[in-house]
Amino acid sequence: MPTHLLFPTLVYSAKLRSGASHLNERLRRECIQLEHDDAAGRRWSAQNYPGGYTSYGSASRMHERSPTFAQLARHLDRHVQKFVRSLHFDLKGRSLTMTDCWVNIMRPRVLHSLHLHPLSTISGTYYVQTPRGSPGLKVEDPRLDRFMASPPRAAGRNPAWVTLPADEGKLLLFESWLRHEVPMHAGRSPRISISFNYNWF
Ligand code: NI
Repeated sequence: MPTHLLFPTLVYSAKLRSGASHLNERLRRECIQLEHDDAAGRRWSAQNYPGGYTSYGSASRMHERSPTFAQLARHLDRHVQKFVRSLHFDLKGRSLTMTDCWVNIMRPRVLHSLHLHPLSTISGTYYVQTPRGSPGLKVEDPRLDRFMASPPRAAGRNPAWVTLPADEGKLLLFESWLRHEVPMHAGRSPRISISFNYNWF
């Protein structure tokens, strides 16, 4: 076919290395403990994340606070390096470094509306606990605001929205400009994830 595929949007997904289940269990306990201890974060969440808890506004550098999170960060660093090779980034001798790392706990009917991660290069999420009914990560075609007279697509073909499943023990990476949201949590027990940003300067 004389057509070219230009400007692809890459998303990376992988499972944390086998044997990481002990790490996942320690992370799970620390996430729950953090919500318990972090009064400032609970107040921030009540304003900005109704019904849920996030340490985004209070403890957003968990990889520097907790050896357990630091261990997760070392795993994630390797995956980010792989993703960077797929993206063909030339980092001019610099490296991508984790700048932020925070906890999200979604209770039933909590959602996280559409956003992107300004001032970062790569963002992503690691899924600690995803009970049945947990929403995935819904990503938006970055060209959507220019579609104008673009006709609808055939069912299931080249959709403008794609939902990537959130599976316990898995991570997702994407370029930070990719807009995304987490639809309403339909499960009964909490959905727990750890989000993070990487930057190269
Ligand atoms: Ni996000």
